[in-house]
Amino acid sequence: MMLWTVFLLLVTLCVHRGSGEEREEPQRPGHVSVIIVGGTGDLAKKYLWQGFFQLYVNQVGVGNSFSFYGGGLSPAEKAKPVFFEILKATSCPKDVSKERCAVLKDQFLRVSQYQQLKTTEDYQELARHIEQQLQQEGMTEQGRLFYLSVPAFAYADIAEKINSSCRPASGAWVRVVLEKPFGHDYRSAQVLASELGSSLKNEEMYKIDHYLGKQVVSKILPFRMENRKFLDPIWNRHKIERIEIVLKEILDVKGRIPFYDQYGVIRDVLQNHLTEVMTLLTMKLPVNMSSGEEVVEKKLQILSSLLPLGKNQAVVGQYQAYKSEVQQELNKTKDHVSLTPTFAAVLAHIDDAQYEGVPILLISGKMLDERVGYARVLFKNDIFCLQNDDNVHCRPKQVVFYFGHGSLQYPGILVSKNLFRPTVTDSDWKEVTEHTDVSVLGLPLSDYYVQTPAVEKEAYAELISHIFSGRRNNFISTENLLASWSLWTPLLSSLVSSFPRIYPGGAENGGMLDVHLKGKEISYNSEVVLISPDQMGGESANSFQVMQGKFRSADMVSAWTEELVETLARDMQEAAEAAVHEGGVFHLALSGGSTPLALFHRLALHHFSFPWRDTHVWMVDERCVPLTELESNFYNLHENLLQHVRIPYYNIHPMPVQLNQRLCVEEDGGALLYENELSQQVNGSSFHFVLLGVGYDGHTASLFPGGKLGEVGERLVAVTESPVKPHQRMSLTLNAINRARRVALLVMGKGKHELITQLSRVKDNPDKYPVTGVKPANGKLVWYIDYDALLG
Ligand code: BG6
Repeated sequence: MMLWTVFLLLVTLCVHRGSGEEREEPQRPGHVSVIIVGGTGDLAKKYLWQGFFQLYVNQVGVGNSFSFYGGGLSPAEKAKPVFFEILKATSCPKDVSKERCAVLKDQFLRVSQYQQLKTTEDYQELARHIEQQLQQEGMTEQGRLFYLSVPAFAYADIAEKINSSCRPASGAWVRVVLEKPFGHDYRSAQVLASELGSSLKNEEMYKIDHYLGKQVVSKILPFRMENRKFLDPIWNRHKIERIEIVLKEILDVKGRIPFYDQYGVIRDVLQNHLTEVMTLLTMKLPVNMSSGEEVVEKKLQILSSLLPLGKNQAVVGQYQAYKSEVQQELNKTKDHVSLTPTFAAVLAHIDDAQYEGVPILLISGKMLDERVGYARVLFKNDIFCLQNDDNVHCRPKQVVFYFGHGSLQYPGILVSKNLFRPTVTDSDWKEVTEHTDVSVLGLPLSDYYVQTPAVEKEAYAELISHIFSGRRNNFISTENLLASWSLWTPLLSSLVSSFPRIYPGGAENGGMLDVHLKGKEISYNSEVVLISPDQMGGESANSFQVMQGKFRSADMVSAWTEELVETLARDMQEAAEAAVHEGGVFHLALSGGSTPLALFHRLALHHFSFPWRDTHVWMVDERCVPLTELESNFYNLHENLLQHVRIPYYNIHPMPVQLNQRLCVEEDGGALLYENELSQQVNGSSFHFVLLGVGYDGHTASLFPGGKLGEVGERLVAVTESPVKPHQRMSLTLNAINRARRVALLVMGKGKHELITQLSRVKDNPDKYPVTGVKPANGKLVWYIDYDALLG
């Protein structure tokens, strides 16, 4: 009785109180059953049993008792010997004497057993066994901890079996640990979450990301908090040059291919481990660090302010031997090619005032030159040392969260001495004062203040002890998981058919995987074409450059998307410079839709000498929605181009679709208003450059098939009808378009191939295919068609 009171008191003293605060559930010492499903698998063998043995060592002394079950699909006779071999290989923490360790190990083996867990009856049998034991030994049950170390497709079924057959009696808890990868993309993660939700309560699930158990990773927030007075003035876009989150590995994935080939490095490491680290580095500090709810809320905030990731924000690679490993492990023929990346470098940006413009690099790969993991925040250095550039003020200024391995060989937090001396208040951490002669990320170790955990602890063992005591802060919430998938899923979809760069592996990779950051885009630094047709298993797709030709008897430029957009942006700039040179002004009319977005990005990020000051931007067409809505063409133009360039606001001419607080009403005369504005400002109503696209039905601008284009006569602007929502549009007419000096028709993507084939055959028929009515009277029409649209 006394002991129980003291125990409760201790627990009460250890936990933080307050609303939403993380609370260790007060637990009365009792019996806990631990069941590792997948108990003889790789992860269990490498980390889990060691972690649970450590838990056992720490807990038996406080009056808890345990039984351990290794569960698996194999029958007991077959799996038992393997199981006990794994258990025997576990070791004691350093502070436990040899003698005591031997005793504990012996006990641990005696309370452990293998149990086949395949059918519902197997789970019922397990439940019977646990209950019998509790009864025989007169023990109170504290809880059942299931660790699912099996592929995610088996989770829902196992959870259902636990729920229906293996729940403890009320008063005891059930905790189910789920390993990553949790889902394959946003949708599958959502489905999985909802399937699991029908068997388990939220608080019963522990979604694990072992990076959150790494001592350095779990110290990121406390470090930022403890050193606020130094970090607050510099943790922002004015001072941070770049953030890098890197996990380099030397091993290959041999033996794991059936899993790995379906996932690849982005799903295996970036979506979870590296994203978590990025979040911890950049999230706003919670007021109350121990409030799980507040931490999740701040994490979600930062995840939702990340700019979308697309093809231009990633490069991927695959180590050379991977192809044959796949053929072997998946029983594939010699011509089988896998596009699964084993290396990826991704460039992310946060769209908020604190970090706007700060590049965040996330990089990981197998078969690289060294094993190392770190997150580095590199600061700008605006000091110029004239005589001695080795002066401490001229060296890199950085804070490095070093997860381990690499040149340092131990985990630590390193702050370069030219920044500040960090506080070490936590007794679990100590300052390192004796430095070995190594260099870490460009600086000798002696140039850093270094702190390291007083005792190194293994991530899994840490998290297992959190699960045991019901501490949930270092686990992934469902919202957090879905927010991460919603960031990564579009990128993964855009990379589905990308060919990874093949790299030889190890030191031989040389500079092959170096990346180059250009504004918001990332590319490999070297342009070497490393993918031979043989490696691709087919013919090389990259054999054309930019090609000139004719389409519908007008000029045509064709290339792969990126080169095409580059060419169009260049042509547009040339036209702008010529017009400004000639008459001091450039009148440009731009279309809406998604096709021109790549061009807008290109212009914003690469064309710094574009004469924006002398450019007037007009709209080719607009949807009858308020200009502040996502659907508005102007809104997209503003978001993707105008806000990024220095164009005077009085040079911007949105279409007046909203007048008198209503949308495109005839008597408000919006179309006429726009027509007058352009007649007055644009010489002869003749734009210098008009950018058009073409829709699947042959529409261009907002001129749709069957729209009786002839009826508008001499009008330059008209309100038109679209077959798709929003139905009302405002558009330049063919009359206005055909007065232009230059018209560019941009068509991209495989989806447009059929249309292009059709257009190459049909005669001019603007009523059926409005785009065929584009024929500048005194100007030039050029089609810009990418290879996907041209060749299919
Ligand atoms: C795992 C990945 O989650 O993390 C592995 O599945 C990767 O592919 C590992 O090797 C890296 O973890 P650590 O702790 O070795 O850095």
